[in-house]
Amino acid sequence: MSQPHPRLEIRNLRRSFDGRAVVDDVSLKIMPGQVTCLLGPSGCGKSTTLRMIAGVEMQDSGEIRVDGNLICDTVFRVPPERREIGLMFQDFALFPHLSVADNVSFGLKSGTRAGKRERVEELLERVDLLRFIDGYPHQLSGGEQQRVALARALAPRPRIMLMDEPFSGLDNRLRDGIRDETLTILKEQDTAVLLVTHEPEEAMRMADEIALMRDGKIVQQGAPYNVYTRPVDRAAVAFFSDANVLRAEVSGALAQTPFGRFLAPGVPDGTAVSIVFRPQHVRIDFDRGGQGPKPTASDGTAARAIVQRARFMGNESLVEFVMDYDGSVLRATVPNVFLPQPGTVMWLTIRRDRCFVFAA
Ligand SMILES: Nc1ncnc2c1ncn2[C@@H]1O[C@H](COP(=O)(O)OP(=O)(O)OP(=O)(O)O)[C@@H](O)[C@H]1O
Ligand SMILES: [Mg+2]
Repeated sequence: MSQPHPRLEIRNLRRSFDGRAVVDDVSLKIMPGQVTCLLGPSGCGKSTTLRMIAGVEMQDSGEIRVDGNLICDTVFRVPPERREIGLMFQDFALFPHLSVADNVSFGLKSGTRAGKRERVEELLERVDLLRFIDGYPHQLSGGEQQRVALARALAPRPRIMLMDEPFSGLDNRLRDGIRDETLTILKEQDTAVLLVTHEPEEAMRMADEIALMRDGKIVQQGAPYNVYTRPVDRAAVAFFSDANVLRAEVSGALAQTPFGRFLAPGVPDGTAVSIVFRPQHVRIDFDRGGQGPKPTASDGTAARAIVQRARFMGNESLVEFVMDYDGSVLRATVPNVFLPQPGTVMWLTIRRDRCFVFAA
């Protein structure tokens, strides 16, 4: 039996501006009902990728397919308005002279007047704006306008939805609700979604799959859990959370550090490596008569550290330490409240199974 076609597939997409590759050989497949987040820092080429799929930007090479059918390569090109792709961009604009209801029903081509009205009411209800149905855009706040634009994009039940930071203008309290509701609607419709964001929390919350983009390339792709727990490099760790880094040299497939030895399988002797770990994987122990805890297989050796400062962050506390062995600073987070006085001597160990060893 043949595999079903992806709803959206892009193959080897490239685009340069002024000789600089902004999108550099990007390939992606998204199945119906799947949400893929394109996650990456500002300027890495996320919007340009979306614009090519939408058809408002032309690629230099590569192709785009919908349900297996070619919609664009360097020769053949379905115009944007015939791609039936839903769009929700950063700079969304409502039609100022149309009512909220008419804005939302704008993309509804078929159906009776009553049927369209019903769909508009349903969507406005779901984004919590039904009371504004007969209002006009200028009577709404920026966040409310954004939700109308979202309803407008969802209304025609597009097969594919491209979203570029669609929730950026909403306050935190509203955002979670609108995000979840949008996701529910898109899943119900079996829409394939490509969502651009530079916020890792948003990607973790929304995505079935994350495509991590940097300098025009997709550097890693997979389920959020896999991308978070098996990052490809140091920057991929640092993109999701604060990261501590130790430098070491490899000898006999082991990297020697003040926290004990770390496995570096297959790394040649003399190679410099970075051992990268997140603050939540640092264990803190009190000093007992000048001693730290005994070394264990899972946590290795404890290293002596002095508290530099401690901050309460709400769900956790962030403690910064100056390390005795070289004066470097390491950060640790602890659930709830833990605010030791600056100058306190403590001992740190690292969860070895949560460390990543990369060539430096
Ligand atoms: N029409 C253009 N002409 C020249 N350079 C462009 C053009 N469009 C985009 N660029 C450049 O391409 C790079 C990628 O832009 P893009 O808008 O895709 O980034 P992004 O990942 O969406 O960033 P952000 O998160 O800030 O929105 C940027 O350096 C940008 O200046
Ligand atoms: Mg952008």
